[in-house]
Amino acid sequence: MSDSPLGARRGNLPVPPGPLPGPSSRTGRYAAGQLAPDAVRRMFDRIAPVYDVMNRVMTAGLDGRWRRDTARAVVRPGDEVLDACCGTGDLAVAAARAGGRVTGLDFSEEMLARARRKAPEIEWVCGDLLELPFPDERFDAATVGFGVRNVEDLERALAELRRVLRRGGRLAVLEITQPQGVLAPFYRLWFDRGVPLIGKLLPGGAAYTYLPASVRRFPGPAGLAELMQASGFDDVRYRVFGGGIVALHAGVAR
Ligand SMILES: C[S@@+](CC[C@H](N)C(=O)[O-])C[C@H]1O[C@@H](n2cnc3c(N)ncnc32)[C@H](O)[C@@H]1O
Repeated sequence: MSDSPLGARRGNLPVPPGPLPGPSSRTGRYAAGQLAPDAVRRMFDRIAPVYDVMNRVMTAGLDGRWRRDTARAVVRPGDEVLDACCGTGDLAVAAARAGGRVTGLDFSEEMLARARRKAPEIEWVCGDLLELPFPDERFDAATVGFGVRNVEDLERALAELRRVLRRGGRLAVLEITQPQGVLAPFYRLWFDRGVPLIGKLLPGGAAYTYLPASVRRFPGPAGLAELMQASGFDDVRYRVFGGGIVALHAGVAR
């Protein structure tokens, strides 16, 4: 993993985690990227049938490689691995291919149903990342792909992931981020306008208005690295993929 400089500063993160005060209408909450946990779960239940196809379309098929790199960053053969917010299971499958004995966890039954069909050999658990149904230090490695952006309390999610990892265990977080640099206007156009437009044609398509908004309210790569450090992870590094639209963070539980 190529390193990017981490800010030495702690606190004063660019975007505070947790719920923001905001609009009360349903459309407004989607547009603000701010949904209560139950609404997030129902949203993923609704988009489960189109989720995999939309991933391929939105990323021009690159998401498979990003998940493979995420798994390889932290999974060693024989590791007990948790893939939290596993959705339809693609990152859990990548972690299993990297040699892990994988447990996938999600709170959307419709997403899990697809994961179970995809890989019946993996253990799939319905549960909440904010209250993981596992004992302390149960896992050697954990992965979360495009999941932590959706949780109500990011610090609590990181604390739970730290709790279930043994000391020296590794965490990888793959997440969409706000691109910087020359390609940024192009990505913004695609993400803020193109994706919601395609979403309008699909069942549960409001989710694709929520997606860019939820990225805007999520910490940037340096902010997320700081939060991971503050949540009990050392040696936190990150790299960005896809011209800066996706960031992979990895850290070691201390
Ligand atoms: C964008 S999908 C990502 C799925 C998968 N990890 C991937 O790489 O495609 C986010 C998933 O996180 C799940 N999720 C969101 N908040 C959760 C929580 N608090 N506990 C468990 N799952 C959660 C949703 O149900 C959804 O399946």
